[in-house]
Amino acid sequence: MDLKARSYLLRNREALERDIKISYIMDHMITDGVLTLLEEEKVKAETTQRERAAMLVKLILAKDDYAYISFYNALVHEGYKDLAALLQDGIPIISPYNGKNSMDGETSYVKTVLCEGGVPQRPVVFVTRPELAKRIQEKLHKLKSDPGWVVVYGMAGCGKSVLAAEALRDHSLLKDCFPGGVHWVSVGKQDKAGLLMKLQNLCLRLDQDFTYSQRPPLNIEEAKDRLRSLLLRKYPGSLLVLDDIWDPWVLKAFDSQFQILITSRDRSVTDSVTGKKYKVPVESGLTHEKALEILSLFVNMEITELPEKADSIVRECKGSPLVVSLIGALLRDFPNRWEYYLKQLQNKQFKRIRKSSSYDYEALDEAMSISVEMLPENFKDYYRDLSVLQKDVKVPSKVFCILWDMETEEVEDILQEFINKSLLFCDRNGKSFHYYLHDLQLDFLTEKNHDTT
Ligand SMILES: Nc1ncnc2c1ncn2[C@@H]1O[C@H](COP(=O)(O)OP(=O)(O)O)[C@@H](O)[C@H]1O
Ligand SMILES: [Mg+2]
Repeated sequence: MDLKARSYLLRNREALERDIKISYIMDHMITDGVLTLLEEEKVKAETTQRERAAMLVKLILAKDDYAYISFYNALVHEGYKDLAALLQDGIPIISPYNGKNSMDGETSYVKTVLCEGGVPQRPVVFVTRPELAKRIQEKLHKLKSDPGWVVVYGMAGCGKSVLAAEALRDHSLLKDCFPGGVHWVSVGKQDKAGLLMKLQNLCLRLDQDFTYSQRPPLNIEEAKDRLRSLLLRKYPGSLLVLDDIWDPWVLKAFDSQFQILITSRDRSVTDSVTGKKYKVPVESGLTHEKALEILSLFVNMEITELPEKADSIVRECKGSPLVVSLIGALLRDFPNRWEYYLKQLQNKQFKRIRKSSSYDYEALDEAMSISVEMLPENFKDYYRDLSVLQKDVKVPSKVFCILWDMETEEVEDILQEFINKSLLFCDRNGKSFHYYLHDLQLDFLTEKNHDTT
């Protein structure tokens, strides 16, 4: 590490060790590829918060300039403005010609636009799927000066939402095509009342200072009109992302010559709306190599070092990124269980009868069951309680404080345990955390609860 950077860390060590809570900081650093999962374990093994922070600082001191920058960015993101300010002058200058860690066009401009637009962050373990992301970007470019719809479709859990978000992490795309910004809406399966609520929330988001109206729209027609004037006048040149559309009728409310990106399981979802349509299939699932890469990232091994069984496990996961991630999270905790999990997947030990017999559901159910079975007994109960979450609604930790009658920190620790196992997902904007389940997981939980009561 650059000498100046190092001295800034040493000089401010005391304040850093005293004040930071490390787990979310480490998530950022892992995402940036400057901290390994093993190192994370090592930090977490310390007893007190202060000792954990001290261990993290010690590890960073032994690393390169990128680690310093990643740490600094993590502090900024997690709302530690004062601490970040202490380190700011020590930020090393890195030659732009060094290709390492170039953030795929993810500049601070991109970060700001996506954060403001509610675009979800990358999952902690993440692999790129450049061809697919590029295909989405090519279609998005066609919306530059023309309204229209880009539809990303494919089966549940195949990575559509992650890909849609990834395609947007591109400076020139945002700057050239969508200077008005991006607005991400998780739609999901809705009835009329549900859709109206989504529309009201969106209008509120777009008109926080109430320039256009003092009250929320009362019905879908009014909401449609309001949305049109807001988007066309207040946010011209912006992209609306409608994530996980189930029913074509929902799109009528958005059929006003906007620029829209949709994810859906249904390729014909835009058949009855007007305007140009561009479709991107995500049919193939992960390649064998990419699935192995996910496993290798979870267990922190080179792909070539993975045991033989890894190939068979990947085959049983049938290319579903969601299933691979669930198994990967299990293997991270129990690195000797390759054979065991493979057998469980093969024996379909957890197979349950389902309305839908499509194979992705089966594979998912098995993976989910295994993950939940491995939780400590009391955590199983907490996890079951997550069925109070509603589809496509992200809830803050407060909700669980009330439900479980606990302090925020306790709740966050429990939920973090689930996140580590890919059993729950979290969006972080500065200091506020919002938790959500993949809707397949919610289906699974709801049914499970039904079976036992
Ligand atoms: N590129 C990726 N790298 C790593 N994991 C991924 C990737 N894409 C998807 N996943 C995993 O699969 C899960 C489901 O992905 P998601 O995009 O939500 O699926 P969909 O929207 O198609 O239902 C994610 O939460 C994540 O755990
Ligand atoms: Mg999705």
